[in-house]
Amino acid sequence: MATRGALPGFAPPGSPAADRAVHFLDFGGAPGARLVAVADPDAAQADRAAADFGARHVLPDGDALLDRVPVDLVAVCTPPHLHARYARQALGAGVHVLLEKPGATSVAELDELLAARAARPDLTCVVNLPWRYHPAVEALRQVLAAGEIGPVERLRVVFEHTGPQAWSPAAWYRSGPGSGVVADLAGHALSVARAVLGGPIEAITVGPGSAERARASARVRTAGGAVLDVDVEVGWDAPTGRFEITATGAGGSARTNLIVPGATRSSEVEVTPAGGAPRTTPATWEKPGDALDRPATDGAYRAVIRAVRTGETAPTDIQAVADVLRHALHWAEALDRAPAVRG
Ligand SMILES: NC(=O)c1ccc[n+]([C@@H]2O[C@H](COP(=O)([O-])OP(=O)(O)OC[C@H]3O[C@@H](n4cnc5c(N)ncnc54)[C@H](O)[C@@H]3O)[C@@H](O)[C@H]2O)c1
Repeated sequence: MATRGALPGFAPPGSPAADRAVHFLDFGGAPGARLVAVADPDAAQADRAAADFGARHVLPDGDALLDRVPVDLVAVCTPPHLHARYARQALGAGVHVLLEKPGATSVAELDELLAARAARPDLTCVVNLPWRYHPAVEALRQVLAAGEIGPVERLRVVFEHTGPQAWSPAAWYRSGPGSGVVADLAGHALSVARAVLGGPIEAITVGPGSAERARASARVRTAGGAVLDVDVEVGWDAPTGRFEITATGAGGSARTNLIVPGATRSSEVEVTPAGGAPRTTPATWEKPGDALDRPATDGAYRAVIRAVRTGETAPTDIQAVADVLRHALHWAEALDRAPAVRG
C-alpha cells in the first residue's frame, strides 16, 4: 500500500533550526510512503519544505490541507493549541494521524480527542513520544525485569536542556496554551518512566515549579503489579542536555542517559550491583544509516507507518499513552494554578 502523508507545521528545511528540530522529518525512509502536501501559514516555509520534500501541494493551513488534499496520513506538528483540533478533524475525515506532543492543551481537549480515536478503531493516532522508542529504555526495562537490582525501590527521571530557543524562536513555547517546560517535556519523561516500569501512570503529585523547571512525583504501576513513586524533573535552564533514568533497588542500581553529549546514536545502561563494580551494556540503534535514523525521531515515524500498513497498535498510540498525556496535563494545570514562586 502506498502511504501518502502530509506535514503541517515545520521549521524551514535545511536551516539549523530544522536540522535540530527532531520532529521535522519526512517519511522518505519508509518504502511506499510519499509526502504529497505541506501546510503552513508561513508561505516561505511551506514553499521551501515542498521543494525539499517534493510535495506537490502547498496549503496555507491544516484546515485547507484536510479539506482539499486526499491523504492517508497527516502529521500534526503545529503549535500545541491546534493539535487536538487537527487530529480530531483528520480522524473524522478517515485520515491516520501522527500527532506531536503534548497532543492537547487541557484534559477536556484530550478527552474529546480520545473519544474521536475510539470512534475510529480502523485508524491510528500515534503520538510522537520518540524517547519511548530509545533502545536504552528497552535495555533498562530488561535489566529491571530480570531482577538484576532486585525489586525497584526508587526511580528518578531527569530531562533537561538549554531551552527551546536552541531550535525555535517561536513565542508559543513561552506563553499561551501548551507553553512552558512541563507541556514541552513532561510527556517525554513520563513516557519513559512508564515504559521502563511496564505499567500505567496512576497519579501525579506536583512539586515546586516554574515555566523553566518543575518537579513532580508520579505513581506508576510496575509490570509485576506493585506501585512505585517516581521522581520526575524537567528543566529548560540547564547548561547542556541530559535525559537520565536511574533505578535503585536493594541489589544495586541501574542508570542510563539518553542524551550522550557529542554522540547521536549511542547510549549505554550501567548496572552497579550493591558492593560491586559497575558494568555497562551499549544500547545502540538498529539501523545506522537508514533514512529514518535520527535517534529521537525514528520510533514514532516508523511506528505510525507500520500501524497504517498492518493495523497493529503502536506503542505510543494515543490510547496506549493516554495516561501519560493526561498526567502531564494534570501537572501543567496544577502548576498554572499554583502561586508564583520568586527568588
Ligand atoms: N516530539 C518531539 O520530540 C518534538 C520536538 C520538537 C518539537 N515538538 C513539537 O512540535 C510542535 C511544533 O514545534 P516547533 O518547534 O516546530 O514549533 P514552531 O513554532 O517552530 O513551528 C510550528 C509551525 O506551525 C505553523 N503553523 C501555525 N499554525 C498553523 C496552522 N493552522 N496550520 C499549519 N501550520 C501552522 C507555524 O507557522 C510554524 O511554522 C510542538 O507541538 C512541539 O511540542 C516535538
